Amino acid sequence: MIIGSEKDVTKAVLSELERAPDPRFREVMSAFVRHLHDFAREVKLTEEEFQAAVGYIVALGRHTNEAHNEAVLMAGTLGFSALICLLNNGDRGQTETDANLLGPFWRADAPLTRNGASIVRSPTPGPVLFVDAFFHDAAGAPIEGAEVDVWQSSPEGFYENQDPTQSDMNLRGKFITDANGHISFRSVKPAGYPIPIDGPVGDFLRAQRRHNMRPAHLHFLTYKTGFKTLISQLYVPDDRYIENDVQFGVTRHLIGNYVRHDEERAPDVKPPWYSLEHSFVIEKGVARLPKPPISGKARGERPAIPHLEPA
Ligand SMILES: [Fe+2]
Repeated sequence: MIIGSEKDVTKAVLSELERAPDPRFREVMSAFVRHLHDFAREVKLTEEEFQAAVGYIVALGRHTNEAHNEAVLMAGTLGFSALICLLNNGDRGQTETDANLLGPFWRADAPLTRNGASIVRSPTPGPVLFVDAFFHDAAGAPIEGAEVDVWQSSPEGFYENQDPTQSDMNLRGKFITDANGHISFRSVKPAGYPIPIDGPVGDFLRAQRRHNMRPAHLHFLTYKTGFKTLISQLYVPDDRYIENDVQFGVTRHLIGNYVRHDEERAPDVKPPWYSLEHSFVIEKGVARLPKPPISGKARGERPAIPHLEPA
């Protein structure tokens, strides 16, 4: 098609898309092209702004490596990850759900750990945390034999993959639910952390005078054949940033029941220590693992990730 006016460009691209044999590809990409072209029309995108947008996309790739995924971070920072999660869980966003963001820090092959054991694998400061998690189906029946990956940042605000001073797989573990659908483990209370701002996500946050903090949380990923893989997080209620997570992940349902204890418990458990209990509901469906956003540890020194303060 020879282009006569700006409107013809959209028509031409959409008509080429009609060739695609996959109907879902056709549907998704046609809507994408329509919205993308209309977006440029609505804001009257300038040539300089278009070049800046292309630069952003290139920078997302340049700032991604085996220990960091800038594209996932940008999707979260735009609220797009949270939207996709809610549109696909909890009766398409209509009811409460245990589903939440995967985030950029899940690694496959966390060490299999027995129930009740610790996921602290190298010296890690911070208050002790005991976790009990229960997994059942929508009818309330316990789910036995589910594989549950857990991972969290250290109380200093770093995942082990970001932090060469932590041992490999520190604060990560894989548990198997027992006949009561239960797992338990010992850890340390997670801390909130700043997301990296040395790439395009940092530029985007600074342009809005936004901070770069996630409230403290513990991640879960639960896999069992016959059930939809549940990806979840439990947030710490007294965190300063609980109301305005930079990744928009906090839902009321997933603010965890972290309880502070000031009494003595054992010689190696100094008060205050914390407990956390949560019951997860897992929907029937197809068990599928996501592609791990990262595959290894950062090298060299522990990074200094600055905190942006909100304006
Ligand atoms: Fe996280």
